[in-house]
Amino acid sequence: MAHQQLSLRFAVVSSEEDDREEAIDELIASLPISKSPIRPVHSLSQNFWCPILVLPNVIAFRWHFEAKEKDILLVSNPKSGTTRLKALVFSIVNRSGFDISNTSLLTSSPHDLVPFIELRECVSNLMPELDVPAEQRRLFSTHIPYPYLPESVRRSDRRIIYICRNPLDTVVSSWHFLLEMARSEDQPGWSLEEHFETFCRGEVLFGPFWDHITGYWKECLERPHKVLFLKYEDLKEDTIGQLKKVAEFVGLPFAEEEEEGGVIEEITKMCSLNTLKNLEVNRSGKLSPANTVVEKRSFFRKGEVGDWVDHLTPSMVDHLNSIMQEKMSPFGLQFKTC
Ligand code: A3P
Repeated sequence: MAHQQLSLRFAVVSSEEDDREEAIDELIASLPISKSPIRPVHSLSQNFWCPILVLPNVIAFRWHFEAKEKDILLVSNPKSGTTRLKALVFSIVNRSGFDISNTSLLTSSPHDLVPFIELRECVSNLMPELDVPAEQRRLFSTHIPYPYLPESVRRSDRRIIYICRNPLDTVVSSWHFLLEMARSEDQPGWSLEEHFETFCRGEVLFGPFWDHITGYWKECLERPHKVLFLKYEDLKEDTIGQLKKVAEFVGLPFAEEEEEGGVIEEITKMCSLNTLKNLEVNRSGKLSPANTVVEKRSFFRKGEVGDWVDHLTPSMVDHLNSIMQEKMSPFGLQFKTC
C-alpha cells in the first residue's frame, strides 16, 4: 500500500527526483508496520515509529537537508506543547519592535509561522520557503527523534529547542487530538484504553515516547549549547524565567529596557492558550499536512497540568509510571504531573 500511494503522489517528477522517490519507495516497502487499531505507523528503526503519510518527507529530510548556521529547530513529541513553543520562539526571534497589535500571530497559525519539516513536500524540494540568505534565522520544527535527524543538524552546532511533557497528560492529549482527526476524516475512533495500550507499547506517532525524550536529553547533557531542554510544566509554572532562558539560548537575550518595558509579559500574554485559542485564525480553518486534514482549533484544548486525573484509572497510572521509571530514571529525568 505504501508503495502505491507514493507512486501516485510523485507521478510527475524529474529523473533525479525519480531516483530519490525510487530509493524512498524501496525503503518504505521493507519496513515493518504496527498492528494497532490506531493510525498505522512504520518502524524506521527500533526506536522510531513513523506515520506512513509523512515517511517520504522524513526520509528525504534526513538524506538531503543541509542546515545553515543560524537555523533553529524546535522539536517535541506530539502533544507536548509544540504550538506554544512555536508561538513563543517566533515572538522572541522576531521581537524587534514587538507589538501585540501587529504580530504575525494575529493572522497566521503558529504552525504556518514555524512549519513542520515532515509535513512539507521534502522529496521534490526541501521547503522552498526555507531558502533564505545565510545570515537570516530560519525557524522550523519537527517531531523526528534525535538519531534520525539529518547529519548536517546532528554533527553541527545548529540549535535545537526541545520541549517535552509528562506522559500522563501527553497520552490523554494525544488521544483527544487523534480522535478529532479521525472525526474530521469520517474515520472510526477508538477507546482511551486502546490508545493507552498502544502508547505503552511505544507504537505511537514518532514514538516510543520515552526514547524520543531520552534521545534529546542525552544530547543536551553532552552539548548544552546545542540542545535546550524544556518541560511543558516548567513553562507553565515560570513562563518568564523560561523565556529568558530561550532568548539567551538563541543569542537574543532580553535587554534591560525590554524587561522594564514589559516585553516578556507581552509575549507571554500573546502566546497564552486563551489568547491564541480565541483568535479567528486559530479557531477556524484547517492545516492540510501530508494528505490529512487537521482542524486548527484541535491544537488548543485545556492546556492543564494534571488533566489525566479525569481520564486514567489508577492501574493505568501505575502502569505508565512504572514504564517511565524504568526508562527515565537511569537518566535522572522526572516530570511534574500535577
Ligand atoms: P491538552 O490537550 O492537554 O489541552 P501540541 O501543541 O504539541 O500539539 O500540544 C497540544 C497541547 O498543548 C494541548 O494540550 C493544548 O491544549 C496545549 N496548548 C496549545 N497551545 C497552548 C498554549 N498557547 N499554552 C499552553 N498550552 C497550549
